[in-house]
Amino acid sequence: MRTCIQSAALGCLLASALAMAQTPYTEDSTYQGLGGKEGIRKIVATFIPMLLEDPRIKESFADFDMKQLGVRLEEQFCEYSGGPCKYSGKYRDKTMDGVGTARDMATVHADLKITNAQFNALAEDLQIAMERNNVASSVSNKLIAKLAPMQRVIVTK
Ligand code: HEM
Repeated sequence: MRTCIQSAALGCLLASALAMAQTPYTEDSTYQGLGGKEGIRKIVATFIPMLLEDPRIKESFADFDMKQLGVRLEEQFCEYSGGPCKYSGKYRDKTMDGVGTARDMATVHADLKITNAQFNALAEDLQIAMERNNVASSVSNKLIAKLAPMQRVIVTK
């Protein structure tokens, strides 16, 4: 009897270990905190007009397709917060053929001559856009922290 219970418990352990092995662990608490895809859509919808109104940075966006930028930002925020998305934006790699792994923020922003002050202004607007959508500051800080390392490649002036 004892052996039977022991082996059943062992079987159970094995089964759950197998199940865990088949489900890759993904940490998506930031994504969930942002409200998932719908939450991110709302944040970007708040954020884009803020960029266009912010005297510190609005000129940079004057000639660009903001609808397209919004779609790319949604993908990117979703990916960086641990959600089930991949940024699929501009491939400004050497070949310009869209093949490869060059989801490259450096080349996307290279011609724009962005300063640290502009970078910080955009980050501040994003933080406010999240606040306006009732995102907890513990969560918004995490997304900002994920994006912060881009400063090194985006700022070129
Ligand atoms: C954390 C900081 C930033 C992030 C995460 C970010 C992210 C992005 C993304 C995802 C795109 C879309 C590229 C595509 O179409 O695939 C983009 C484009 C763009 N970004 Fe940024 N960006 C940042 C900072 C800035 C700053 C500080 C400025 C200027 C003040 C800026 C100006 C632009 C412009 C003008 C475009 C359009 C470029 C084009 O279509 O060729 N970005 N950015």
